[in-house]
Amino acid sequence: MKRTKILTKKQNLRGAIAPLFIGKVNFRKPTEIEFSSIVSFIIAYELDNRGLKKEQFLIAVYENILVGFARLREHSDCIELCSIGVVSPYRRKGIGKALVAELIKNVSKNIFLVCIIPDFFIPFGFKIINKFPVSIQEKINYCEQELVVAETYVAMAIERGG
Ligand SMILES: CC(C)(COP(=O)(O)OP(=O)(O)OC[C@H]1O[C@@H](n2cnc3c(N)ncnc32)[C@H](O)[C@@H]1OP(=O)(O)O)[C@@H](O)C(=O)NCCC(=O)NCCS
Repeated sequence: MKRTKILTKKQNLRGAIAPLFIGKVNFRKPTEIEFSSIVSFIIAYELDNRGLKKEQFLIAVYENILVGFARLREHSDCIELCSIGVVSPYRRKGIGKALVAELIKNVSKNIFLVCIIPDFFIPFGFKIINKFPVSIQEKINYCEQELVVAETYVAMAIERGG
């Protein structure tokens, strides 16, 4: 006889509901109004608010609601993944993961980032690095001076040789 699989509360959310939810999330470029909302969220979540441009962003939209955003910033010496946020009530449903995957999937060059949550980025192939471009050192300096937290900032990269 076939047994009904009983999920724990945690498995139910992560394993069963989350994929259904993610299937209803769309990823696209923001409109001007959505970009204004992104700026507000970036300020509220104390993320990197320097050099913000609408075209750098990809957003996640669920039932016409902006639920997440992430950007690729082109410096003169590298590409940086930064200013990633999922709107608080929508966190831990797979949106951040899907958004980052969508944003970086067609990038063939090296991608750098600075963060305090390396575990979030390891599944994409990012590794902690000790040698990095000048703009990434500047980002670390900015984070340590302007976005002060108890955790340690680390630099990470997906290095593809370009
Ligand atoms: C970090 C953030 C973008 C994650 O978005 P999210 O939609 O909640 O994350 P997901 O649900 O896609 O999680 C994907 C995986 O990362 C893990 N994860 C989520 N948040 C994490 C965190 N803060 N630290 C470590 N791992 C985390 C999840 O457990 C999940 O693991 P699993 O796939 O093994 O189940 C979101 O919490 C956020 O906006 N935080 C505030 C802003 C911020 O810190 N931005 C990052 C700056 S570098």
